[in-house]
Amino acid sequence: MKVLVVPNAARAATRAAGLVAGVLDGKDRPVLGLATGSTMEPVYADLVARFRAGAISFSGATTFNLDEYVGLSPDHAQSYRQTMRRLLFDHVDIDADACHLPRGDASDPDAEALRYDAAIAAAGGIDIQLLGIGRNGHIGFNEPTSSLGARTRIKTLTQNTRAANASFFERPEEVPRYAITMGIANILEARHCVLVATGGAKAAAVARMVEGPLGADCPATALQLHPRATVIIDREAAAGLELIDYYQEIHPDGEEPGLV
Ligand code: F6R
Repeated sequence: MKVLVVPNAARAATRAAGLVAGVLDGKDRPVLGLATGSTMEPVYADLVARFRAGAISFSGATTFNLDEYVGLSPDHAQSYRQTMRRLLFDHVDIDADACHLPRGDASDPDAEALRYDAAIAAAGGIDIQLLGIGRNGHIGFNEPTSSLGARTRIKTLTQNTRAANASFFERPEEVPRYAITMGIANILEARHCVLVATGGAKAAAVARMVEGPLGADCPATALQLHPRATVIIDREAAAGLELIDYYQEIHPDGEEPGLV
């Protein structure tokens, strides 16, 4: 796991956006795995700014979001599809048909999950997967005790997660109880996983993910098994790491000087 401790949240977003920009630049038909949540908002703002400056194009890109709320149609204002439109899709040159999210309103969720996994495979797999982390260690909506071998399926959200997402809804009771989410197995198949965490509220989950024992009680620990996982965190999110001096020595302020 590459741990990049950057000075602040703005730098974390720029750094993550830079990695996505590198994939957009480097491939004719890049496949991006996208996440939602407040941590991702400055990442998408940075990507939109790069697009407006003419530095990147999404024209050949395909995207797959990690998850969608069950029960919300794609045109529901709080659906993740609409969120992604507001933050990214509507502001860049991406083909709307190439932007995939699981259908939260599918009449047969199991069939929808299989369809989604097949679509990812048909696109050739995910080149770079953006991830946030929940305070309870979830990635995607793989809540604690999720099978580390699971693929896309329905998960029941914890009260903790519903409370954390309540600010996106008018009333807390409107937060859906279920989500359809890629599983840890899908995430581990991405060729590069980039997890971004900022702020002190994430410090305990980040410490467990990076330095704690592998376990389904903290699904993010599964990234310890990934051959190319990059964790980009600000100093506050890094506050619980015991080996922080080591990470800073290898990557001062999150930079990558190479072997010296
Ligand atoms: C949502 C998702 C979640 C969030 C996580 C952190 O698509 O993948 O795992 O990344 O809940 O959310 P924020 O960034 O709002 O703290």
